[in-house]
Amino acid sequence: MREIVVSGIRPTGNLHLGNYFGAVRSFVQMQETHDCYFFIADWHSLTTSPKPENIVRSAETILAEYLACGIDPEKATIYVQSDVKEVLELYLFLNMNAYLGELERCTTFKEKARKQPDNVNAGLLTYPTLMAADILIHKAVKVPVGKDQEQNMEMARKFARRFNTMYGVEFFPEPQNYTLSERAVKIPGLDGSGKMGKSEGNCIYLYEDEASIKKKVMKAVTDSGPTVPNSEKPEVIQNLFTFLEIVSTKETYDYFNEKWNDCSIRYGDLKKQLAADIAAFNAPIRERIAEYSANRQLLRRIAEEGAEKARESARRTIEEVRQIIGFR
Ligand code: TYM
Repeated sequence: MREIVVSGIRPTGNLHLGNYFGAVRSFVQMQETHDCYFFIADWHSLTTSPKPENIVRSAETILAEYLACGIDPEKATIYVQSDVKEVLELYLFLNMNAYLGELERCTTFKEKARKQPDNVNAGLLTYPTLMAADILIHKAVKVPVGKDQEQNMEMARKFARRFNTMYGVEFFPEPQNYTLSERAVKIPGLDGSGKMGKSEGNCIYLYEDEASIKKKVMKAVTDSGPTVPNSEKPEVIQNLFTFLEIVSTKETYDYFNEKWNDCSIRYGDLKKQLAADIAAFNAPIRERIAEYSANRQLLRRIAEEGAEKARESARRTIEEVRQIIGFR
């Protein structure tokens, strides 16, 4: 039996390089060897945007982008979270065994509560239980996510363990975060703010063309340049090199690294090269995004078929969960 994998992305905007290198790249690889469920977390997006302009269209956008990145509906089950209502029942059960204190202590909750003080809603507080429900509904063992999801993953394991202990069963596996590389991936922003993220407003999106990428990359924060050979790179410079590492050739990386080491680096040259390499990386994906986005009928069919498969798996789990809790 193949191992079960689940992961999702919120449809609060388009896919950016952080999403791609933190998560989607793993999806594409894992679909070859695992039993994968990749969804669009539209319910989760309501925790920050309770009045979405067009949530159906936003989900379709991510679906088109998933497909453009190479996620294949023949290999993986692709669906929209809100099409699988079984998740809600599991969310409810998990919430009965989730405690206010531990939910309030989550850093993502604290951060969001700080950012939207007028809307510290219960959905935000129970974000980790809904995420755990997404994962446990298929009894997944691996979850490809970026570094920013580590705490949510810890919570998911905690809820799985607690359910098993509470009802004296060995039912839910404890899902593990999965990364292709040794370390969890954190794609930086180019504005010196740390992580690339939609709420940070510093994203380079997969749909972007060379001109708009160049504009963003040329604005990347740098310093006045190295003065001591072979010195350690400050964070903003390391960030540029992290990008070179993921989108450029090894020769390009080595070239600029040498220039850094002998203090002859010109950031303008590095940025030009980086912008060109990101644009080249984007180009084929960008083309396919346009193709898939134009074919809404196909998108709908894929979403319907995916939902059917996801519901089948979800139904099996929720029926057993009901039995375990005592709804016979
Ligand atoms: P979301 O929508 O914020 O991000 C989707 C995925 O992209 C990764 N990511 C990054 N990785 C590395 N560097 C970055 N700068 C970066 N920005 C985003 C995220 O780690 C994530 O893997 N809670 C989830 C959605 C979710 C989910 C789930 C995920 C809901 N239920 C169940 C897995 C399993 C989220 O908000 O991701």
